[in-house]
Amino acid sequence: MNQDELKRAVAAAARDYVAEHLPGGAIIGVGTGSTANCFIDELASLRGRIGGAVASSEATRARLEGHGIRVLPLNDVAEMPIYVDGADEITPGLAMIKGGGGALTREKIVAAVARTFVCVCDESKLVERLGRFPLPVEVIPMASAHVTRQLARLGGQPRLREGFVTDNGNLILDVAGLDIPDPAELEGRINQIVGVVTNGLFARRGADLLLLAGAGGVRAVTP
Ligand code: 5RP
Repeated sequence: MNQDELKRAVAAAARDYVAEHLPGGAIIGVGTGSTANCFIDELASLRGRIGGAVASSEATRARLEGHGIRVLPLNDVAEMPIYVDGADEITPGLAMIKGGGGALTREKIVAAVARTFVCVCDESKLVERLGRFPLPVEVIPMASAHVTRQLARLGGQPRLREGFVTDNGNLILDVAGLDIPDPAELEGRINQIVGVVTNGLFARRGADLLLLAGAGGVRAVTP
């Protein structure tokens, strides 16, 4: 199977998981990216059984609405049993780097409300140690030079993502070369830099379940 086929296979597995575990009429959180897009296409078949969805980006909102799925503002939702999203890297302990699509802040907010975070990936995303994928950091525009200097002091090589503005009107610095022995510690440290909105380490609140697609099919991994 090529990577697109793996994404479609894991998206179908996530749909089956949702069909089995999401209570009828409940709200589901939906992530951003190409794997999440495959999941949205699958979710369309459950449209009549879910109460609606919360989107982690404008792109996801548009795709959900294109399938006739009702999209609710997060502030109107008190209970979200399941959030489904992809990742750029994920460890066997289910800590992740996310934000390749630049939606990390809204993804982290929606995930914080969800009871169960289901990550959907193909095997290329599974790593023993995070950090080969440059870490996305969302920054307030007027702070980008300051944050760049602070991230360099942590040993990284930050690069401004050219021509990209987040759904929140901010910038993304992609930080290569970081040594990440303790993802939860670094997640907190970077978030303490003034001007950082959030960073793409999802370790303090990692995934609860990984559906991982490989040549042998889709398997479930728990931390
Ligand atoms: C977007 C994300 C995505 O989940 C991540 O980039 C993976 O995307 P894809 O499924 O296209 O590989 O964090 O901000």
